[in-house]
Amino acid sequence: MEPDEILLSRYGTLSSIPSPVNRMMAAFAEEFRDGIDINLGVGYVNERTIPRELIIEAQQEVLRHPEKYRAALNYGGSRGSQNLIRSIRGYYLKRRIGGIDEELLDSKEIIIGPNGATSLLDGITHLLPPGIVITSDPIYYIYCNLLERAGFKVMPIPEDSEGIRTDLLRERIGELGESRGEISFVYIVTVSNPTGTILSNRRRKELVEIVADLSGDLGRKVPIFFDRAYEDLIHDPDAEKPLSGFLFDELGIVYEIGTLSRVLAGEFCVHPAGEMVELGKRQMRISYGFEELEQIKRAIEYMREGVAYVKERADSGDREASR
Ligand SMILES: Cc1ncc(COP(=O)(O)O)c(C=O)c1O
Repeated sequence: MEPDEILLSRYGTLSSIPSPVNRMMAAFAEEFRDGIDINLGVGYVNERTIPRELIIEAQQEVLRHPEKYRAALNYGGSRGSQNLIRSIRGYYLKRRIGGIDEELLDSKEIIIGPNGATSLLDGITHLLPPGIVITSDPIYYIYCNLLERAGFKVMPIPEDSEGIRTDLLRERIGELGESRGEISFVYIVTVSNPTGTILSNRRRKELVEIVADLSGDLGRKVPIFFDRAYEDLIHDPDAEKPLSGFLFDELGIVYEIGTLSRVLAGEFCVHPAGEMVELGKRQMRISYGFEELEQIKRAIEYMREGVAYVKERADSGDREASR
């Protein structure tokens, strides 16, 4: 008798249908035509803005100075690279990011995800009990899709020009009645993907207050995660300087998630100089921290061969091959 198929978890079953982001990435990988198509999906970085030379320099720097970057290609501690944590701390204080001072920063802990903000967001889905997740509408669809596959129920609250409508949020929480006990956490992108709307400081403060009230009401802390993926890229001189949610947090419910992936290789790339380069160097170390040098070398060789092949075909006018 033929055995049944492998048993899948709920997450496994739902994941056997590719998510919208996976479908878009597959289409991009297979069908995108360089020089012809423009890709507006998924947030792919413009290849021309990736600081390749700096990345090479950063890798070399790390590999040449093992005394400074200890065991760079080996496993590290669970909190992440102490070098990177120190750099982020310095960056926050020097730039007065979010209006945070040394005392406030010292009362917090900085941890590094294994790979970008996504790994930290993913971590949340494993640590918190499935339930209702409050977020702003339009949603950041990539994470919200993951949340739904992981058994969470996304509750989007419309935004206006200042971000999530806190008046509606209060209303909707009220309408939940007893079900508000199912609220697991709040997830807010401070510069919205997809709309680009910047969450105003007024709203940010109100949000923290609402979630603090909710926590009091439920008799347990409800965490609020601010995803500040794009916050360091705000370039509108008229926009107010964003304040950290920590400034309004008396209860200890605020978490902030940042990433360098947007800053170092984005279309808005802010001057890749000074500490940002330092940070980047260290991030490279994190990203490749689990790889063996030999594997990196081989991967680079494969990439080189691929590029040479495509270039050769493109030069000879074979458009199909250059796809
Ligand atoms: C709002 C938001 N959060 C997180 C991420 C992912 O960040 P990372 O590339 O560091 O995983 C993105 C990427 O598009 C994003 O738009």
